[in-house]
Amino acid sequence: MIPRHVAVIMDGNGRWAKKRLLPRNAGHRAGMKRMISLSEHIFDCGVEFCTLYALSTENLKRPPEELEGLFELFREYFIKNTQTLKEKGIVLRVIGNLQLLPPDVREIIQKGETETKGGTRGNLILAIAYGARQEIIAAVNRAVKEGGEMTEEAFSSLLFTGDVPDPDLLIRTGKEIRLSNFLLWQSAYAELYFTDKLFPDFTDKEFDKALKSYGERERRFGKVEK
Ligand code: FPP
Repeated sequence: MIPRHVAVIMDGNGRWAKKRLLPRNAGHRAGMKRMISLSEHIFDCGVEFCTLYALSTENLKRPPEELEGLFELFREYFIKNTQTLKEKGIVLRVIGNLQLLPPDVREIIQKGETETKGGTRGNLILAIAYGARQEIIAAVNRAVKEGGEMTEEAFSSLLFTGDVPDPDLLIRTGKEIRLSNFLLWQSAYAELYFTDKLFPDFTDKEFDKALKSYGERERRFGKVEK
């Protein structure tokens, strides 16, 4: 079974660079290169939704030179890749608090989203300036304003991912075994896969191992097998 929605926490760029005595931003650049090929591979496998954690709200506290390097990569990524994604039928979406980004980055992102809107092959969702708790609180505030009784479905629809199915498989690279404020509500029943590979070293083959592991799991969603 191929998961319909795969989410990836792309961790370990900094350590990848450190091991090579390179600046941290060289690690992020290597991560971006890997991200471009990996997302193609993920859609080639038949996955419909791919959500990648590129920057958390907590990451925004990093030193200004690292953040500026990341913003520059975002600019480059959206400017160079929007057309290719459009040609491949991939819809590009960003979830997160875009108000926390420099205005020009925000504009470039919004342009990329508008230009790829009609795609029918897959959805690439980048989590940028994203935090799950902040997303949940924003949804709670909307729910309170609207009033009435909440259901799980109604609440889900108030999140950034309102029209996206929940992730089936959530992968974290880079050795840490935690979710770091990523898709907390949506991942309630996701299969989790942790690997020591640093993100730039997380090859397509390594991804295939995660797919294999997913295929071997029995998803019961809390029920007992009949
Ligand atoms: C976490 O590794 C990674 C990030 C904070 C940035 C992720 C960005 C990319 C993969 C590339 C650019 C993305 C786009 C959308 C163009 P870390 O820096 O925390 O690594 P460490 O734990 O080894 O220090």
